Amino acid sequence: MKKEAVVNPWEVSGEMDYDRLIRKFGLKKLKNLPEIFQGNVLFRREIIFSHRDFDRILNAIKNKKKFVMMTGLMPSGKFHLGHMLLTQQMIFYQRLGAKVYVAVADLEAYSARQKSLGELRKTAIEEYLLNYIALGLKPKNCEFYFQSERSGDAKKANAYYRLASNFSRYATFNEFKAVYGEISPGKMNASLLQAADMFHPQLPEFEGRVPVVVPVGIDQDPHLRIARGMGSRYKDHDFIQLSSTYHSFLPSLRGGGKMSSADENSFIAMTDSPREVENKIKDAFSGGRDTLKEHREKGGNPGVDVSFQYLKMFFEPNDEKLQKIHEDYKSGKLLTSDLKKILIKKINTFLKEHQKKRSRAKKQIPKFLYKD
Ligand code: TRP
Repeated sequence: MKKEAVVNPWEVSGEMDYDRLIRKFGLKKLKNLPEIFQGNVLFRREIIFSHRDFDRILNAIKNKKKFVMMTGLMPSGKFHLGHMLLTQQMIFYQRLGAKVYVAVADLEAYSARQKSLGELRKTAIEEYLLNYIALGLKPKNCEFYFQSERSGDAKKANAYYRLASNFSRYATFNEFKAVYGEISPGKMNASLLQAADMFHPQLPEFEGRVPVVVPVGIDQDPHLRIARGMGSRYKDHDFIQLSSTYHSFLPSLRGGGKMSSADENSFIAMTDSPREVENKIKDAFSGGRDTLKEHREKGGNPGVDVSFQYLKMFFEPNDEKLQKIHEDYKSGKLLTSDLKKILIKKINTFLKEHQKKRSRAKKQIPKFLYKD
């Protein structure tokens, strides 16, 4: 029997049924997106596939009105290909004219991951920020901040921490329990801070009342539900409800689930060598058949094949070429080893270029830090 898939903020495993998740969480499918979104592989191929209240963002884009894209990162380990999913969205929205807010969830990680704030800060900068810059994030129209150090401007910092604290009046213990299962002071605090991350751009000390979109992996929706509840009940400021979009997961190298820095065998890091990439992809889960003969006769299954998914999500932007690979693999003409060869070459070409960009990105770091 097939193992039931698990999807929550702490665990993602098994084979995903995204339509079921849309129904379960009460999300809407993303459709009829304007032309500009079609140029982006993630939207065009429906890797970003559902939303809450995204119309507001579409209107802001259409009417050339200001909006914010907000996200947060747990500085927990190595930056890997899975992290690129969100990074590419940050860059996409920044180019569309959005102001990008990025919270380093160092306070959340301090409580959950047993590391010092110093270590977490170092990881956030050297792993995350550096890769964001190399992938194209610009310092202009970007607020990169630490939860532990929101701003050097006391008015702004006070407004942010005040919001996190005040939110505690607007959620019940049962709501927290429903989302977090086992509740702890750390989790509750992190949840309040995270809601402040999402809503504080709308405060007068920041951008004023503007729409905010929070793109997330679908496992993160419980966090959004809690934040939306508190934001809508909040008395001291009339917040515009959050917009959010949901993307599917970059599967783990072992198939299903998601690439996660907590599992060494699930990811390809941006710092992996060509040899490491080759070995990892060669060992990766495939949708191929057990024997060559069977594969030639019956064909492979690109739907579960990790290499095909990586090509689809990042490495083969040309739709016709991707379609051809899909057909050939399904018909058995293309073998798993051939498919893997294509991918290995693509990843290594990409990483070689990326690693160069990353060393050039170092000098840009100060432009993102020490801003008010
Ligand atoms: N909790 C998120 C994580 O585990 C990090 C985070 C903090 C976040 N604040 C946020 C994500 C605001 C989105 C928006 O990765």
